[in-house]
Parts: sequence; structure tokens; C-alpha cells
Amino acid sequence: MKEKLSQILDNALSQIEKSGELEKLNDIRVAFLGKKGELTSVLKSMKDVAPEDRPKVGQMVNEARAKIESRLEEKKAAFEKALRAEKMKAEVIDVTLPGRRLRAGHRHPNTIALEEVEKIFIGMGYEVVEGPEVEYDYYNFEALNIPENHPAKDEQDTFYINDKILLRTQTSSVQVHVMEKGKLPIRMISPGRVFRSDDVDATHSPSFHQIEGMVIDKNITFADLKGTLEQFAKQLFGEDTRVKFRPHHFPFTEPSAEMDVTCFKCGGKGCRFCKGEGWIEILGCGMVHPHVLEMSGIDPEEYTGFAFGVGLERIALLKYEIDDMRLLYENDTRFLEQF
Ligand code: DAH
Repeated sequence: MKEKLSQILDNALSQIEKSGELEKLNDIRVAFLGKKGELTSVLKSMKDVAPEDRPKVGQMVNEARAKIESRLEEKKAAFEKALRAEKMKAEVIDVTLPGRRLRAGHRHPNTIALEEVEKIFIGMGYEVVEGPEVEYDYYNFEALNIPENHPAKDEQDTFYINDKILLRTQTSSVQVHVMEKGKLPIRMISPGRVFRSDDVDATHSPSFHQIEGMVIDKNITFADLKGTLEQFAKQLFGEDTRVKFRPHHFPFTEPSAEMDVTCFKCGGKGCRFCKGEGWIEILGCGMVHPHVLEMSGIDPEEYTGFAFGVGLERIALLKYEIDDMRLLYENDTRFLEQF
């Protein structure tokens, strides 16, 4: 028995010595110390040992087990140490290497222009409001004085979801949402995407952006409209900018006008940029039509207001002297990085 035990012990220790990897140690542990391991089986055959020898043999088994266990632990620690050393060597970090530059993103010219417009109107106490791009015909046309079969609907053909729901053709639809809420006075702008079934060219796109503006309060007059929009133009294009209002027609304003600004390239003398005219058209505007107020539950005897609509791309093209709207949508970074 004693011989057998020392054989098992020698065998175990030599296997531990020869083992080449951490995982192997566990196999050895199971083979000798496990439930069905060699050392365990010696304990099981204890009944064949003379009773007086049993304590002695038991002690020897325990000693053998302790030796194997401690050797296993030592070997395990050695393996782990070697592994760590290898890892440290492989993962050396050279802190003197120059860093990899992160290429920062860039704001789109549309975004830059929009933020500038928002800043101007927020400075005048306006609120920035959002409205839905998928819209009811009622908000886009009907409530803006453009009933079924009105010719204005022809000029603003769009993408219909069904008879009653469409992609909005103008941010003017947000006027109606804001008026319906019934909170007066109103002083808001609403930027957003609009849609028309237009073919793409240098000045058209089936999807572009507008900024709507609306003010409703007691005693608002055309003088307020003119003063506000002149101030807006000066802040956007420079103090020397002059403005001019030409009579126009929009179904939801009366009277209506288009506003031109003096060409900021030539100051109004006429150049290639303004096609020799000295003036550039930038927005539509007017006094909110009494019927439009009424339809949204505002008493036109008590309240008046003005509204305007600006094309965002138009502002971006003018401000940054871009001659083709398509450049704004191609997302070529060589172009975008210039702003
Ligand atoms: N919604 C008009 C368009 O898309 C622009 C416009 C004109 C908006 C006059 C207004 C306005 O608010 O008063 O052509």
C-alpha cells in the first residue's frame, strides 16, 4: 500500500512537472484527486487494510494529497506569472507616439443659415415651433384659404398619402396649428422641410426647407411687418442692406407682398450675382387674412397679424454665394468643408 501510494505521488508530481499549460493542471487534479481519481480510490480500498494500519495509511494519503495540491498551486501560479509577463511584453504602449487625429464633423450650410435666422428672431422674442411634415390637406391648404379646386393648389402639387393626407408644401401649415392652440399673442417662427413634385435643377428640389414666421396681437399693422423684416434683413445680410416690398398675392394674407433685399455683392448697382437688377427676392409676406384668423378661432375684429415665409436654401445660397442648390444635397465633404 505504501509503495502504491508513493508511486501515485511520484506519478502525479512528474505529470505536474511536465504539463505545458494551465488547462492541463485541472485534468491532472481530476485524475488524481477527483471523485474517481487515483488517490481517492486508495481511500476507498481502506477496508482491505488491517484495522491497526488504517490510521497510518489514512495519514499517508492525506500527506500525498497535500503535496499534490501544493505542487498544483505552485505550478498554477508559475503559469499565470509567465502569462502575465508575456502579455505585458505584447501590449507595450508607446506613450510618445503622436495621437490619431479625430476628424470632427461639420455643420451643413443649411444648418448654419438656419441657426443664424433663429438667433435673429429669438433675439426679437420669437418662439421656435415645430410642425409635422406629413400633414392634413386642411392645414396645408384649406385653413389657409386655399379650398378645393383653388388654382394655388396647382402650383403646389405634392405627394399625397391619400385624399386627405399629404407631405406639406409649405411651413405655413404650422400657422394654423399655432393659432388653433388659442394662446395669444403669437410670435413664432417655424423652420422645417417641405415637399413639392418639382424636378431637380439648380434652383428646385422636390424637398427643401422653409422658415415660417407669424405674429398675432392687438394692433399689429403692416408697419410692424416692414420694420421687423427690414431688421431681419439687415442682421442677416449687413447693416447697409435696404429692402423693398412688391405687391404680390398669397391666398392667406391680405395685403400680400414679396420682399427684395439690395444685392449684398454690388450694393444695388447691379452685377452678375443679382443678374443686373440690384435686388434679390428673399421672402413672401403679408397681413394674415381675416378669414384665416376666423377659421382658426381668432376674432379678426380684435386681433391682427402678419406672416412671412423664407426659403432656407435660398438664404444659404445667397449668403455663402453658392450657385447651384444641388450642391447642398450631394453631401460631398470637399464642398461642405468650405463653410
Ligand atoms: N408659403 C408661401 C410659399 O411657400 C410663402 C409665404 C408667403 C408664407 C406669404 C407666408 C406669407 O407666411 O405670409 O410660397
